[in-house]
Amino acid sequence: MAIFCITALIYFLILIALIWMWVVIIKLFINKEYRECPPYIPSFGKEKRIIIEKVSDTLKNSKKPLTILDPGCGTGTLVIDLAKKFSEHQFIGIEWNKFSYMICRLRARKLKNIDFVCDNMFNQNFGKADIIVCFLMDPLMKRFGEKILHDNIKSQTIYSNTFKIPNLPLVEEIKTGKKMLFKNVYVYRL
Ligand SMILES: C[S@@+](CC[C@H](N)C(=O)[O-])C[C@H]1O[C@@H](n2cnc3c(N)ncnc32)[C@H](O)[C@@H]1O
Repeated sequence: MAIFCITALIYFLILIALIWMWVVIIKLFINKEYRECPPYIPSFGKEKRIIIEKVSDTLKNSKKPLTILDPGCGTGTLVIDLAKKFSEHQFIGIEWNKFSYMICRLRARKLKNIDFVCDNMFNQNFGKADIIVCFLMDPLMKRFGEKILHDNIKSQTIYSNTFKIPNLPLVEEIKTGKKMLFKNVYVYRL
């Protein structure tokens, strides 16, 4: 009886997961606003390594403290790794998902040089960032670029994992050689 109940529960959970997955896929196709909300997928692989290396080089060579911002920081994959290495620089993550935000807070509880804001990134000002790192999604990128241009008050470098920001001046396209969904890092400078 116990084995039957556990098997039934597992099948039920798989069914729910499949239904949820299809709801997300259908919503992505039919709802423009939903497409503008990149889901949680942490940076990984070559793109993550490239962004961390590039930002680390700048931070190592900087004579003054810099501010690094990740709008849509998820669970802090990019900023927490960097904040651990560079205590003399300041890091900010903006994340509107409360659960991911709580994980960020938990993961970074011992770090003094990082702040997290739980909010829609479009309500926050990006102006004080020297470096912006991001991993968002195509339908959002034009609006995201407009936001950066609008808030910009000093020179900024922007590293975008996989997705181009159409209205910003591209200075480098770092090809990862991958042919899959997530590839390349785009560098912009204002
Ligand atoms: C693809 S994940 C990237 C996470 C992280 N930046 C990284 O590279 O590992 C995108 C994140 O952006 C968040 N997000 C999407 N739209 C947002 C918005 N308007 N304001 C704040 N966060 C947002 C999502 O909740 C998700 O966690």
